[in-house]
Amino acid sequence: MKVLVLGSGAREHALVSALAADPVVDAVIAAPGNPGIAATALCEPVDALDPEAVTELARRHSVDLVVVGPEAPLVAGVADAVREAGFACYGPSAEAARLEGSKAFAKDVMAAADVPTGMGRLCTTLDEVADALDTFGAPHVVKDDGLAAGKGVVVTNDRDEALAHAESCLAKAGGAVVIEEFLDGPEVSLFVVCDGTDVVPLTPAQDFKRVHDGDEGPNTGGMGAYTPLEWAPADLVDDLVARVAQPVINEMARRGTPFIGTLFIGLAITSRGPKVIEFNARFGDPETQVVLARLRSPLAQLLYAAATGTLGQHPDLRWSDESAVTVVIAAENYPGTPRSGDPINGLDDVAEVPTAYVLHAGTAQQEDGAIVSSGGRVLSVVALGDDLGQARERVYAAVDRISLDGSHYRTDIALKALRGEIA
Ligand code: AMP
Ligand code: GLY
Repeated sequence: MKVLVLGSGAREHALVSALAADPVVDAVIAAPGNPGIAATALCEPVDALDPEAVTELARRHSVDLVVVGPEAPLVAGVADAVREAGFACYGPSAEAARLEGSKAFAKDVMAAADVPTGMGRLCTTLDEVADALDTFGAPHVVKDDGLAAGKGVVVTNDRDEALAHAESCLAKAGGAVVIEEFLDGPEVSLFVVCDGTDVVPLTPAQDFKRVHDGDEGPNTGGMGAYTPLEWAPADLVDDLVARVAQPVINEMARRGTPFIGTLFIGLAITSRGPKVIEFNARFGDPETQVVLARLRSPLAQLLYAAATGTLGQHPDLRWSDESAVTVVIAAENYPGTPRSGDPINGLDDVAEVPTAYVLHAGTAQQEDGAIVSSGGRVLSVVALGDDLGQARERVYAAVDRISLDGSHYRTDIALKALRGEIA
């Protein structure tokens, strides 16, 4: 099988590695990929957001499966275009990807499918915003209705800050915001592989969204993750399949827009049970890096089954008993405009740490072969261990071997879980 993977982050690096490890796969092509991915896949400098260019690329390589990593190509209709051209594609149509692309659409589907979620109100004027903020009270949750790469959400006790964020979102053409009830409790990410009708859940992971230790500072795309979640209720996955994933997939099919791809359920485990915070229409980054680190079933066969509507016959997934932790190394000033072009040293030394490896995200290769930073999240370092403690020791030992001027990373990934401090 030949697989084309769209995207250029550490999530895509993890996907490419797992796909290439599937015995049925003889080649992986990535567009555009990155210098880390280039070690495993043929990287083609094609714009992943251009439906025609991607279709042409799929034809040129006669691929058997297209896997879409990030949300932007989905919203741009890339999955529709390649599917129309006859290629099996793992990734939802633009219409179905609105589950992620529009917070208001997601709330509408959740209401129709009776999915447990917080209360929310769509606002298009500052007066409506002020009214909603006062109705729900602090902490205030203000979300840009459109896509914002994980940075469109402000959670704050400061009413003025909440209003200011809403004002900047409303200032955009067609701007709208969703004001939500604050959901208290630990957050979980669950990826559910969907073929339009059937669903197969992967294992839950936890992501660390804030830039600094102790969940301080602004939201980012994600600074680290770990799995499994030993503190989570034993029936969590079954419960989420029954009350969230299957009803949503049924509702999307009923609307004539079947969802094929990853339904990413972001939820909070509140005192009143799990409640959905958001959906994404793709694998999460950096959770994918740890979830795939533990997956023992062949990934290409799973995603091909989803793309071709045969998940119902897919064998049960197999998982390693180990724990996996990933730590993101970010460039100076991320999540603001990151500094780039700095040399990254020590990448090869990571191999000295058992099980540890480096996935590339914002990296570039210079003509002399040197790897330099070229984005906000630069690297995602992954390690496995017999338990979380060992996985954490290994991943931080690996992070220590890497040097990048001005970079920063969180030192507390998976720490609360290790200490039993998550209730
Ligand atoms: P989202 O883009 O919707 O995932 O939001 C980004 C992050 O903001 C989430 O991972 C949460 O940490 C936080 N957040 C979003 N909505 C809520 C909410 N209703 N209650 C509490 N925290 C939230
Ligand atoms: N890590 C969360 C996301 O991918 O949106």
